[in-house]
Parts: sequence; structure tokens; C-alpha cells
Amino acid sequence: MTDVPALIEVQNLSKCYGEHQVNALRGVSLSIEAGAFVALMGPSGCGKSTLLNLLGAIDRPTGGQVLIAGESLFEKSEKALTLFRREQLGFIFQFFNLLSTLTAAENVALPLDLHPNLTEAQRKQAVQSILERVGMAHRADFYPAQLSGGEMQRVAIARALVHQPKIILADEPTGNLDSENGESILKLLQNLSQEDGQTILMATHSEEAAHAAHRVIRMRDGQIQDA
Ligand SMILES: Nc1ncnc2c1ncn2[C@@H]1O[C@H](COP(=O)(O)OP(=O)(O)OP(=O)(O)O)[C@@H](O)[C@H]1O
Ligand SMILES: [Mg+2]
Repeated sequence: MTDVPALIEVQNLSKCYGEHQVNALRGVSLSIEAGAFVALMGPSGCGKSTLLNLLGAIDRPTGGQVLIAGESLFEKSEKALTLFRREQLGFIFQFFNLLSTLTAAENVALPLDLHPNLTEAQRKQAVQSILERVGMAHRADFYPAQLSGGEMQRVAIARALVHQPKIILADEPTGNLDSENGESILKLLQNLSQEDGQTILMATHSEEAAHAAHRVIRMRDGQIQDA
């Protein structure tokens, strides 16, 4: 009998930002099971965003490796990495990063542009159903400037989810929200991991946000304190 590998396996990962020789990650190892909702905590500058960016293959490590479902992420070709990001990954940012000239629905549809095989009807259906899921269907035709912060974040989450990724990486998704909006985002993330089996890794400074997760990983100075 072989063990089922964890969905995300980080092995001795290090990252040194060249220009200023900052050792942002210094030998990080951890494993995350499929369907887990994990909070990543630690002081500013400890390496949370660096770790998320490496897991999202937005950046490359200086050493160590990441296995996704047993496959080495950084040994993939650029083309395979693009496919990985496109099909398996949803990224949620602290500052939402919505395009101001597109409506909520158009923003949400963006990742689907990378899936040219979908018909127009399938695209519409996917956008509509995820906007409903995040409670934003009634704002589909609003522009970001016409939305509240919490609403913008829900649209950004819908955009991260519209292609049904297995893995959701969230970098302080409630960092710019009041407590009520933050709570509703956390409920949504809980829901996604419990009902849809999506795997979520969320960097946060908020103990409340961490409470919503199944597990908390604490970092300090580029290392894991406990896993
Ligand atoms: N592109 C870069 N070039 C050089 N140094 C960087 C770069 N990005 C991050 N760093 C440095 O790496 C360290 C870790 O940064 P990182 O953004 O991962 O921290 P963080 O834990 O996400 O912090 P915060 O909670 O403030 O978001 C910091 O000291 C930061 O200054
Ligand atoms: Mg950060």
C-alpha cells in the first residue's frame, strides 16, 4: 500500500531576493492535505507572500521544491506551469486587483478567456453561477468603483474561482475589509473547503481569520515555527 501524497508538499524551500540579498524563506517544509483550509500567520516580512507566490508559480525558489499532487512544480516547463496556473489555481489578493474599466461580470469572466474551448453560453453560465455563489449576482453590471470594499473582494473571489481551481491561494483576503465583510468572506472560504473540497492557503494577520481555518501555520523570519 502506498500513502496518498498530500496535495501540496513543500520541501526545504528557500528564497533569496537577489538584489538586496534578503533571505525571505529559509528552509520551509510543510504539507497540506486536499480540502484543508490553512491559515498562514506571522509578523510582517516573515515570508508569507513569498511562500504564496512560490506556490502559485508566480516566482521561482532559490532552493528546495514544491510537489503538487506528487509532481514537482518547478521542474515543469513554462507551458506546463501556465497550464497549472490556469487550471488548478485561484489567487485572491489583499487589494482585490479588479480592472476598473470592466464590470463585475466581465472581471469574473477574465480567467475564462484562457479557456477558448468554452462556448459563450458556458462562459455566461459559469460567471452567473459563481456570482450567485458569492452573493453578487445583483451587481453583475456594476463597475468596481460602484462597489463597496467587501463587494469588490467578493467579485475578486468569484474571479479566482470561476474556473473551479483545486487550490486557492489568498494573500490577506480580509486585510482591507471591516469585520462584518471580513466575516462573510471567511464564511465563504470555509464553505468552499467544506462543500466543494477546495484547498485553501490564506495568509493573514488576523487571529479571527485564523480561527475560521482548520489549521494554523506560524512563520517567523522565513521559517515555520510549527506545522
Ligand atoms: N521582490 C523583492 N525583492 C527584495 N526583497 C523582497 C522582495 N519581496 C519581498 N522581499 C522581502 O522579503 C521578506 C519577506 O517578504 P514577504 O512579502 O514575503 O513578507 P510577508 O510575510 O508577506 O509580510 P506582510 O505581512 O507585511 O505582507 C521581506 O523582508 C521583504 O522585504
Ligand atoms: Mg504579505
